[in-house]
Amino acid sequence: MSMKVFVLIVLVLVPFGDALSRDDFPPHFLFGASTSAYQVEGAVNEDGRKPSIWDTFTHAGNANMYPGNADIACDQYHKYKEDVQLMAKMGLDAYRFSISWSRLIPDGKGPINPKGLQYYNNLINELISQGIQAHVTLVHWDLPQALEDEYEGWVSRRIVKDFTAYADVCFREFGDRVKHWTTVNEGNVFAIGGYDSGFLPPQRCYPAQSLTYNCSRGNSSTEPYWVAHHMLLAHASAANLYRKKYQDRQHGSIGFNLLTFGFFPLTNTSEDISATKRAEDFYLGWFLNPFIFGEYPDTMKKNGGSRLPSFSKSESNLIKGSIDFLGINYYFSFYVKDSPDSLQIKDRDFIVDAGVKLQPVFGDGTSTSGFPIVPWTLHGLLSSLRNTYGNIPIYIHENGQQTDRNSSLEDWSRVKSLHDYIGSIPDILRNGVNVSGYFVWSFLDVFELLAGYESSFGLHYIDLNDPTLRRQPKLSALWYSNFLNKRTMDPMITMEVQKKNPSVVLPTAFSNNPILQMVQRKSISYS
Ligand SMILES: *[C@@H]1O[C@H](CO)[C@@H](O)[C@H](O)[C@H]1NC(C)=O
Ligand SMILES: *[C@@H]1O[C@H](CO)[C@@H](O)[C@H](O)[C@H]1NC(C)=O
Ligand SMILES: *[C@@H]1O[C@H](CO)[C@@H](O)[C@H](O)[C@H]1NC(C)=O
Ligand SMILES: *[C@@H]1O[C@H](CO)[C@@H](O)[C@H](O)[C@H]1NC(C)=O
Ligand SMILES: *[C@@H]1O[C@H](CO)[C@@H](O)[C@H](O)[C@H]1NC(C)=O
Repeated sequence: MSMKVFVLIVLVLVPFGDALSRDDFPPHFLFGASTSAYQVEGAVNEDGRKPSIWDTFTHAGNANMYPGNADIACDQYHKYKEDVQLMAKMGLDAYRFSISWSRLIPDGKGPINPKGLQYYNNLINELISQGIQAHVTLVHWDLPQALEDEYEGWVSRRIVKDFTAYADVCFREFGDRVKHWTTVNEGNVFAIGGYDSGFLPPQRCYPAQSLTYNCSRGNSSTEPYWVAHHMLLAHASAANLYRKKYQDRQHGSIGFNLLTFGFFPLTNTSEDISATKRAEDFYLGWFLNPFIFGEYPDTMKKNGGSRLPSFSKSESNLIKGSIDFLGINYYFSFYVKDSPDSLQIKDRDFIVDAGVKLQPVFGDGTSTSGFPIVPWTLHGLLSSLRNTYGNIPIYIHENGQQTDRNSSLEDWSRVKSLHDYIGSIPDILRNGVNVSGYFVWSFLDVFELLAGYESSFGLHYIDLNDPTLRRQPKLSALWYSNFLNKRTMDPMITMEVQKKNPSVVLPTAFSNNPILQMVQRKSISYS
């Protein structure tokens, strides 16, 4: 270990008095880290696994977004024991991961793959034996390709039955040990990215209103709405099954996950204030309004018209109240400006229907690198959700900072981001928002769905040219572990060191973020 690294580690580990501490959180508050199956497991052709729509997409060239695929990724399929040891050493309470549907049930329906079943049993047992809770997502965007081929996946209502049967297998086989189930990860972005903009698999969009992606199938006017509708019905069906057949015995809970943004009016005109409400309705209320009130928001009914499907009375009753918790992924926020002109456009899609222009909220001095670190926006988001939807139990399923894959292990911008966002939670709790846990995205440098291996969010670096794929802790892993083990430290010290080491952080430009580009598309074209 070089002297410089030694000094840095001492600076991070030595207690510095009365700053942020784990004791500022309720004792049952969970801290963990996240990954997802396709992004971390590798072994895509091993032991009976069949492709998901992500394998198809990456092998067809990722729409030229970035090179590479997750055929090997972090190889967690073979290295899960080592990874769980690392989690235990860090002091994580919980690990959020997802099950690969096409590893467990290779054709999406029908026979279970015994090797897939064994893998998830092994992983869960290893976690439990180390005292780490398993928080499991059933679909992290990676639908079995077989179901896409057979009936176009989520576009068809047939998905509801097959998803429910898959969920049934998971509850039956793993529910004695898994107490936190999330049906779908980022349902909102999956619907928009895969079926409106078309930059995510299964790459459906039409007319070609997208940035640069040419889809061979789809209909951006209708399909994002159908896909979300079927996700809502599939979630409700699985939740209903869980409650009737398993919950009494297994005592777990079931929720849904969204990519969330705080929305704030650009000005205080009544137009921008109602546009802000409309943005929240479209991006979050799309799912939350049905979950809490049993129907889509009025603004969506008005602007989506007959293209927005509707629920029967019994469907509405099944969906209403079907989440025990909401999982939120949180990275950035927007100022909202009203955009009445966009509603004049012919062939409207979801993004145009929202009728808003979005402008990212930047922080001080971080406007062009990484994600801006603006914890007040997380507070604003959670207050707004509580005001509109009541006090739903919330897990922050993902939060983190993006850096270049090969930047230094001294990831100060990630340390600052974790420190500031985690540090904002005690105040949020004092204001009566029921946040029950916080998970860092991501435990390792995984195959990023929006950037492949070009950027990283991990607490641990993996050199892809190292055949052993050794996990190397970054400073953020040390910081997090230190925090979890109830050692305190002064953020000013870390910031001082950062100032003295201006070269250590080389983040990817925030403005290249595909989700940012996606939601801003219309405001760029029509302003
Ligand atoms: C999409 O099609 C247009 C027009 O044919 C072409 O100019 C553009 O390069 C294509 N984009 C991609 C990503 O293939
Ligand atoms: C998309 O669906 C709408 C509504 O059903 C329809 O009017 C439109 O023609 C469809 N577009 C294409 C390209 O199929
Ligand atoms: C809008 O009004 C609120 C409350 O008075 C104030 O805090 C905020 O700064 C105003 N926003 C703008 C953009 O003027
Ligand atoms: C907060 O949510 C948890 C479930 O995550 C629940 O057990 C608890 O009762 C809730 N607390 C409040 C104050 O609503
Ligand atoms: C990171 O470094 C490795 C090994 O030097 C190299 O192969 C890879 O292309 C680099 N990746 C990026 C995104 O720079």
